[in-house]
Amino acid sequence: MSDSTNSSWGGRFSEPTDAFVARYTASVTFDQRMYRQDIQGSIAHARMLCKVGVLTEQERDDILRGLEEVRIEIERGEFEWSVALEDVHMNIEAALTKKIGITGKKLHTGRSRNDQVATDIRLYLRDEIDVINAELTRLQQGLVELAEKEADTIMPGFTHLQTAQPVTFGHHLLAWNAMLTRDFDRLQDCRKRINQMPLGAAALAGTTYPIDRHYTAELLGFDAPTENSLDSVSDRDFAIEFTSAASLIMMHMSRFSEELVLWASAQFQFVDLPDRFCTGSSIMPQKKNPDVPELVRGKTGRVYGHMISLLTLMKSQPLAYNKDNQEDKEPLFDTVDTLRDSLRAFADMVPHLQAKKEFMYEAAKRGFSTATDLADYVVRKGIPFRDAHEIVGKAVAYGVQTGKDLSEMTLEELQQFSSEISADVFDVLTLEGSVAARDHIGGTAPNQVRAAAARAKALIDAR
Ligand code: ARG
Repeated sequence: MSDSTNSSWGGRFSEPTDAFVARYTASVTFDQRMYRQDIQGSIAHARMLCKVGVLTEQERDDILRGLEEVRIEIERGEFEWSVALEDVHMNIEAALTKKIGITGKKLHTGRSRNDQVATDIRLYLRDEIDVINAELTRLQQGLVELAEKEADTIMPGFTHLQTAQPVTFGHHLLAWNAMLTRDFDRLQDCRKRINQMPLGAAALAGTTYPIDRHYTAELLGFDAPTENSLDSVSDRDFAIEFTSAASLIMMHMSRFSEELVLWASAQFQFVDLPDRFCTGSSIMPQKKNPDVPELVRGKTGRVYGHMISLLTLMKSQPLAYNKDNQEDKEPLFDTVDTLRDSLRAFADMVPHLQAKKEFMYEAAKRGFSTATDLADYVVRKGIPFRDAHEIVGKAVAYGVQTGKDLSEMTLEELQQFSSEISADVFDVLTLEGSVAARDHIGGTAPNQVRAAAARAKALIDAR
């Protein structure tokens, strides 16, 4: 990276920028990642300027050719970024001018870096949301497929992390999928508000050139030009919205992660994670650590932090653009990277989760998970639910004392608690009977899980 005096705005200055200040105020070290969007925006701007007669066709073509060369240079790693040129915008414009001469200096007619950067970020985030939603979709496909496979697999369902009622593993997987469906929709909704074009707002008030903002918007695939020039250059709501949608996704991912960490432990043994997603210990030879879910859980905090950074960055800012806004990029970029990579790791890992069915089944048998089924049974025999609750409570206390699950008690033993209990009680005390009985939309019965998986699949396929 080279250092020299800035020629883009140096006209009114009588001394060069202090070398440290130049580094302190520059953003090129991090905003160069938007080079593609910056060039894309400039190409559309040049086309529009030509359409309205501000540039000749020759000038437009020189600019387009020059920008294309710059892009190739950057992609080949041959471009020399300069801190003295502050940011990605001025670096690219200076390189263009070096290539095509004076015409390069005409590209900035009728625009400012303020509307340019707002446009670049929107183009960038739009692209990244598409990548993120593709990873999210891949993860969902994996979850739904696994759910179908595990529709009959019985495990304990928990409340307060205490065994509550038996559920199917497929049902549990589809709960995760339900969260991700909302997450996908939230990002798509956020994308609508991103997809508005600030270009043309110029520095803050608009421009005196006869620009055609609808045309530029169309060229860039934006839904419409933004309404108000002051708002256009200063608005970063869309970035905050994105980081808040990202925070929700990471929160969901941290919940899956926590469960996988628990389930992979010797205490639960519900799942086996593929070796290639785990690491060992340098001192304890027996260890297989669930690093991927642990890291996802850990990275959730930094994404929340970025959301708070952006909210705080924008707090109390007067209209219109302020240099503060340059601070929007690093939190935003890190949110994009963290979210995309976390989703990718999970999308790669989830299809290879191994359910340890025997352990799940054994765990469901412990903890009186069919106690509610017994209460419902007694209610069906005409006893009010509160009394049924009391009856089953006593049966459970007896089970704790004698070390027997409800299904392991004899009919005589059960009848001590209610004379209404007869031999058909054992149909509901089995785990299979318990899950099969929850046979309504949203319930855990295996056939309901299969139907829910089919609906989830259809939703994903329709994207
Ligand atoms: N690097 C700046 C940013 O990221 C670009 C806009 C600068 N505009 C200005 N008037 N200094 O926000």
